[in-house]
Amino acid sequence: MTKITVRRSGPLNGTVSISGAKNSVLKLMAATTLAQGRYLLHNVPDIIDVDCMSDLLGSMGIGVTRSGPHDLEIDRTSDVVPEAPYELVERMRASIVVLGPLLARFGRARVAMPGGDDFGPRPIDMHLKGLELLGATFEFSHGYIEARADSLTGAHILLEYPSVGATENALMAAVLAKGTTVIDNAAREPEIADLAAFLNRMGAQVLGAGSSTIRIEGVDELFPVEHTVVPDRIEAATFLAALGMTGGELTLHGARAEHMEMFIEKVGEMGMRVSPTSDGLWAMAPSRLQSVDVATLPYPGIATDYKPLFVAMLSVAESVGIVTENVFSGRFRYVDELVRMGADVRTDAHHVIVRGRSQLSGAPVRAPDIRAGAALVLAGLRADGETEVHGAEHIDRGYEDFVGKLTAVGADVHRD
Ligand code: EPZ
Repeated sequence: MTKITVRRSGPLNGTVSISGAKNSVLKLMAATTLAQGRYLLHNVPDIIDVDCMSDLLGSMGIGVTRSGPHDLEIDRTSDVVPEAPYELVERMRASIVVLGPLLARFGRARVAMPGGDDFGPRPIDMHLKGLELLGATFEFSHGYIEARADSLTGAHILLEYPSVGATENALMAAVLAKGTTVIDNAAREPEIADLAAFLNRMGAQVLGAGSSTIRIEGVDELFPVEHTVVPDRIEAATFLAALGMTGGELTLHGARAEHMEMFIEKVGEMGMRVSPTSDGLWAMAPSRLQSVDVATLPYPGIATDYKPLFVAMLSVAESVGIVTENVFSGRFRYVDELVRMGADVRTDAHHVIVRGRSQLSGAPVRAPDIRAGAALVLAGLRADGETEVHGAEHIDRGYEDFVGKLTAVGADVHRD
């Protein structure tokens, strides 16, 4: 159990290098189960979740080695055990995305049922429905999904909701299914487009990724490839939010403005200035932001992962803002921690009403998950006294060297 100690800081100033996207690289690693051979991934973030996925592939007989600070070599041998054990799935829900590719490649998969987490119930009904339409059958016993498919056949999959995970599982299964698959109401996140680009490099035929209709022509064979992971838009947004808390000027090397347009627009309304540069983003923030209302939606809407960042920014902004969560019903556990820091934040059903204060007060708090943990560290940048964020291992799951990157631009944070 580690903690991060934060003292009031700012204005922040300098350059931050944005790492590769967690929510892309995990899926690319799962996709390597689709074809035998050696893969090379670049711009891989040094985060705990990548280690979790490496352990999961390792337990299947797939070799994963870090061949450089941000390079991953994946040696997918011939004899793979298509199983994802409970102790590994329990550590990381995203493990569920091995289900589709394992089924497509091996005709069977045994994957532990992922549990719920701090966001409330997280069913996988849409994952299973999509794979069933492609011809898979499922049995559930002793906490495991026993999946079978002698062969998969292309189908029309209409998702009830543009679920990221369900889109990815269907996509990774459909690339080896006979005939044409159309995924309608598909998730449009940039990480989906990165996965499709990776699969197309492997020899797949995927069209329309990034839009709500993805069309896949199944192929008989795929090949190992080399690929560079897209930058992490959530990490980039986190550093823009840090700037929003303290004021100042930052350059985010590697960030892609086109992946986070709605976020940039929203912080623009709050008084920040953000513009793309040749190799990233430049941003400037006043000493105090204006409050706005925010509602989370599937991409290209405001991502639910940005929400704790907005609540933190609004807790020290001028006036009142209302944040509405439309994606995960229970994603509010960090609110009590912010209240502990003197923030005027109230929840009402799936809304959070935030009355801005000029500053917060440092306190011991606990990170319930990755993004909320980061938001609590940011809140500490605008609090008098010391803020101790316990459970910092949550932050390490999704952020590479968070403390080091913040310190490099002038934040007073350290890890204990
Ligand atoms: C991905 O989760 C991300 N995780 C999440 O980021 C992100 O918050 C989320 O997409 C939304 O953008 C990874 O990529 C590893 P969903 P995922 O399926 O795929 C409901 C972070 O901090 N649903 O799009 O699990 C579901 O309950 C993490 O980096 C069903 O009802 O999200 C939720 O309400 C946190 N049935 C909504 O859809 C299903 O079968 C969106 O879930 C599937 C989903």
